[in-house]
Order: sequence, then structure tokens, then C-alpha cells
Amino acid sequence: MIIVGISGSPRQQATEHVLKEALRLLEEQGFETRFWTVRGKWVDHCAHCDHCLTEKECVIQDDVQKLYALLSQAQGIIFASPVYNGGVSSQTKAVMDRMRAVVAEDKNFFRGKVGMGIAVGGDRAGGQEFALMQIHAFYIIQGMIPVGGGFFGANLGATFWSKDTLEGVKLDEEGFRSLKKTVKKFGAFLKRYGQEDKK
Ligand SMILES: Cc1cc2nc3c(=O)[nH]c(=O)nc-3n(C[C@H](O)[C@H](O)[C@H](O)COP(=O)(O)O)c2cc1C
Repeated sequence: MIIVGISGSPRQQATEHVLKEALRLLEEQGFETRFWTVRGKWVDHCAHCDHCLTEKECVIQDDVQKLYALLSQAQGIIFASPVYNGGVSSQTKAVMDRMRAVVAEDKNFFRGKVGMGIAVGGDRAGGQEFALMQIHAFYIIQGMIPVGGGFFGANLGATFWSKDTLEGVKLDEEGFRSLKKTVKKFGAFLKRYGQEDKK
């Protein structure tokens, strides 16, 4: 089973670091993983041109096209976003909005896939939970199975306090505890439901 991790940070810092750690833990559980990042990529916004509704493809030929192909093979998806102004980064949101095209082509594109979220804020309580709710809203709207990490530490998923640095996030023991709990549940859900025919 393949898991695609999407980093919505334009930097090679905290978000990327913790997402790669999540993928490493999932590989230990026997999953195949793929890493994709907005960093250094051309990620345009959805223009709501509705080309995809009639032509079944996105008119914007940017780097998101490669992500469409990656996601079509995935049973599991992880959105990892830095917290910007109390929610997901605009880069993360742009990726989500661009998924309209694959759903126009196949309304069941995401159906039955399992999803978890990671939110990394510079502040201890800077909007991580709201960012996770935005990620879960995307999953629910797409017919996916949203997974948190359970009570006592990771209710809605993995939350990190980076203090705005890579070194800061590496010291966030509670953050890594929330990540481990979430990854464990995510892996268990994938093993239980991930094989299901998405149609
Ligand atoms: C435009 C912008 C807005 C931000 N807003 C918030 C915020 O609302 N809450 C918060 O906790 N951190 C906020 N931050 C800090 C980042 O979430 C934090 O530095 C995070 O580690 C960035 O991820 P990265 O290390 O992967 O780049 C903001 C950073 C930027 C650039």
C-alpha cells in the first residue's frame, strides 16, 4: 500500500522534517511511501475556469499534474502544513483546491482513501487544531476516512510547536508523541480499510 505525504511548506524546515519522520515510521510498518512538497514547485491556484468539468483535466500544466499521478496510486494521504494565520498555508490550500480536476474526472478519486494531518505552528497554540480541521474537512468532503491520533495527546492528529526553527521542532517531544500516536492509528486504519475497492 502506498502513502503519499504532501508538505505544504515552501521551506526545507520543520514541516518537511516531521513529515519525513512520519513516512519513515510508516515504512517501518511495511508501507511504501512517497514524499511530495510544494517547495520549489510551480503550484498555481484553481482559477475556477470549470475547464475540468467539461474536459476532465486541469488546464494548468504546472507541477500539480505530477501529484495527480502520485495520488491516483495512493491508499493513504498525509497533508502536513505549517500554520499560517491560524490555519493551513495558502500553498496547502492551493493544492487542495486543485484536486477539483481529478474529482471532475473521477468522482470517486479519493473515496475510501485514508487521511491524516500534521500541523506545525511557530507558537504552541497558534492554530494547529484549526489547520487540522481544515485538512479533515478536505478528507470528509472527498469521501475519505479521516484519522486522528486518539485522546490523551493527539486528538485530531499530529501537532507541533516549532518556535519557528528546525531545531525547535526537533526538541518538541510532545509533538513527536502526537505524531507517533497518529501514525499508529493511521497505519491500523490503512491495514483495515485501505485495501477496499474505492468505488
Ligand atoms: C505568513 C506566516 C504566518 C504564520 N502564522 C502563524 C500562526 O498563525 N500561528 C503559528 O503558530 N505560527 C505561524 N507562523 C509560523 C510558522 O507556522 C512556523 O514558523 C512553522 O514552523 C513554519 O513551517 P516550516 O518550518 O516548515 O517553514 C507563520 C509563518 C508565516 C510565514
